[in-house]
Amino acid sequence: MSDANELTILADLETYLARAYARYSDFQVAAAIVDEQGRVHYGVNVENAAYPLGACAEPTAIGAMITAGGHRIAKIYVTAAKTDHITPCGGCRQRIAEFADQTCEVVAVKGGAVSSRTTIGALLPGAFVL
Ligand code: THU
Repeated sequence: MSDANELTILADLETYLARAYARYSDFQVAAAIVDEQGRVHYGVNVENAAYPLGACAEPTAIGAMITAGGHRIAKIYVTAAKTDHITPCGGCRQRIAEFADQTCEVVAVKGGAVSSRTTIGALLPGAFVL
């Protein structure tokens, strides 16, 4: 956990990407969440021999945020080693939407640089809410 600074986050994501546990897909993903207090929480995908039990990077980062006492996702960054432009999978969009306003920025990162910016509202219009 650290304070938000985009250049720092972009650099740190490269470090975390190397820690992803993606031995089955070989598709490493890392995510960084800036919470409502401006603190940054990181996560990577963690796979399992029982494939459906694997976790994406985004919920791992959400778990870190919640564990640290954060409540809301102000911004989320996602990067993957093997694609230039990653966007969160459908399930992760719903998981992000649980903790984010529609305007929450979702930033795709590749090689330590921003490759695109969108919002969770654009990625998941009409998210399920209770
Ligand atoms: N993955 C993520 O971590 N986040 C996504 O949004 C898309 C997919 C992971 C899951 C799995 O470990 C690997 O990428 C290949 O699907």
